[in-house]
Amino acid sequence: MASIEQGAPLAARMSGIATFQVLKLLARAKELEREGRSIVHMEIGEPDFPTPSPVTAAAIAATRDGDVHYLPALGLPALREAIAGYYRERHGVEVSPERVIVTPGSSGALLLAMGLLLNPGDEVLLADPSYPANRHFVRFCEGVPVGIPCGFESGYQLTARTIAQHWSPRTRAVMVATPANPTGTTIPEPELRRIIDEVLGRRAALVVDEIYHGLVYGQRLTSALALTDRAFVINGFSKYFTMTGWRLGWIVVPEAYLDPAERLAQNLFLACSTVAQHAALAAFTAESLAICERQRAEFCERRDYLAHALTEIGFVIPVLPEGAFYLYADCSRLTDNSFDFAQRLLETAGVAITPGADFGTFRANEHVRFAYTTSMPALREGVARIAAHLRGTMNRARAPAIVRV
Ligand SMILES: Cc1ncc(COP(=O)(O)O)c(C=O)c1O
Repeated sequence: MASIEQGAPLAARMSGIATFQVLKLLARAKELEREGRSIVHMEIGEPDFPTPSPVTAAAIAATRDGDVHYLPALGLPALREAIAGYYRERHGVEVSPERVIVTPGSSGALLLAMGLLLNPGDEVLLADPSYPANRHFVRFCEGVPVGIPCGFESGYQLTARTIAQHWSPRTRAVMVATPANPTGTTIPEPELRRIIDEVLGRRAALVVDEIYHGLVYGQRLTSALALTDRAFVINGFSKYFTMTGWRLGWIVVPEAYLDPAERLAQNLFLACSTVAQHAALAAFTAESLAICERQRAEFCERRDYLAHALTEIGFVIPVLPEGAFYLYADCSRLTDNSFDFAQRLLETAGVAITPGADFGTFRANEHVRFAYTTSMPALREGVARIAAHLRGTMNRARAPAIVRV
């Protein structure tokens, strides 16, 4: 096989694009499974539920009817209308369908936003920890991601105050996610209002990733669209609608950006999958929404169980997350190297989790992410294995019994 040394050199930007650590662990987990080991997967950021059946039925019908040709770059008009309708019904917000752009996953929406906004050297403020791809989208568009250390005190989220503290003459945009990955925490509405004022008041762009918005427990979240029509608001079908592989998301852009967004979408994507867009129309039917709501209730039950069980065996979860399907646990009582810890857990206990280093650098070695995207019996088995593993390592180290918190 030809090596890169013999061919064209890689673009410099590639040095800033890192692999997700979790993928290395996932690959190893699969290898162990091939060898016959049983692995409890708590590392995967995708729902374990199937896509709602009305959606799959709509995909079959669209394919049968020959709905397989290119659609407009901004998306199937009926789907853009349906998304606007969803904001009206769920959030009581009027959003013009014109402002809704259908994208290849929310990933496509994030790339579109960064492509629209960044010049080389422009800084983008984001939380550390946060979704790993964000800093890479920024880097890909020649921007500079600036991770702001966010501890449990602020729910691991940016605040208007920390944004102001880290502002520089090069700051061009701020990215937040509510609920967030890896922490599942949300930004309370009053703080979101302050962030909007802070960022828009400085004539910079605010990107609000609401991909986990449907998955909140015990409360209803206000969409940023209810507070301003000048933010870039992202959502998608992957998480609440359990449609990861269909690769559909959307972005609502401020009106003034519509024309450039259309030009960029045409050139970057040409169009999203036609079949997936026809199928996604069925995601908004009462039947699909009822399925998604049942899944949400199950996620909530899993969260409550897992947060309690992990705390019992020595992890610290200072903020009970209000959404998504993650727990970001402080493991500093158990290890000072979360990557090694995750690796050992996989090799010896057969439990796969994600080390904090995937999400930034701030106290990354002291945190791991648990995804409760597996069944309750599997979660119980995972916790039992971790507890046994910890008892073993603690005994070997002659450590005192695990502290109950
Ligand atoms: C916060 C966040 N945003 C965006 C994405 C991208 O999701 P997709 O491209 O499947 O819509 C993810 C995926 O895990 C995520 O966690």
